[in-house]
Amino acid sequence: MLKLVKPSYKYRHSFLEALDEYGSDHISGIFHIDLAYTNFKKYLSCVRNQERGIDLTRGIVPSSAFWLIDGDEFVGAVSFRHKLNKRLREYGGHIGYSIRPSKRKKRYGTMMLAMALTHVKKYGLKKIIIMCDYDNTASQKIIKANGGVLHDTIKTKSNSNKKLIMHWWIDLV
Ligand SMILES: CC(C)(COP(=O)(O)OP(=O)(O)OC[C@H]1O[C@@H](n2cnc3c(N)ncnc32)[C@H](O)[C@@H]1OP(=O)(O)O)[C@@H](O)C(=O)NCCC(=O)NCCS
Repeated sequence: MLKLVKPSYKYRHSFLEALDEYGSDHISGIFHIDLAYTNFKKYLSCVRNQERGIDLTRGIVPSSAFWLIDGDEFVGAVSFRHKLNKRLREYGGHIGYSIRPSKRKKRYGTMMLAMALTHVKKYGLKKIIIMCDYDNTASQKIIKANGGVLHDTIKTKSNSNKKLIMHWWIDLV
């Protein structure tokens, strides 16, 4: 059964296996990766603090993390920022996600965003902004399938790979 859960010790082994699998690939929606390898309990505590807005580094906003689990296996992760600052409004947005490489192209990404949006609705926002690189076809399809409407496409110095960034809005009401 497919479910979206808060990060948990129960899936530690599968989560760490997935981190190895990503290698140098782009990981979106997962933070504190070094800590997950070295001290998993502390990693979980950081994730919880991040959600409650405790001990945040300057410029970091509160965010909730969710894991997509199929059976007992970690499949992917999505994170939701409760509010945005000026920098995140330009580059970052409300939601980031990734699916572990061995589980891609099986519609998990599309389903994970749909499941995440039902959680996000509980925060009372009327709409959220999601961003992706101009050439990230898979992410564009996922966003569109979940009601995303393209707002603009911009160039920003914040994107280290210098690609154009697409800003999509999703209405939650
Ligand atoms: C983007 C990502 C989440 C897609 O996850 P996924 O589970 O493979 O996506 P889905 O299986 O739901 O596919 C959605 C659509 O994209 C297509 N797609 C998937 N991977 C693709 C690829 N590499 N190139 C082109 N199209 C692709 C699928 O065929 C599907 O198309 P359809 O709706 O017309 O059938 C995954 O590739 C990933 O984790 N990438 C790295 C992190 C990232 O880019 N995150 C997004 C940041 S905004």
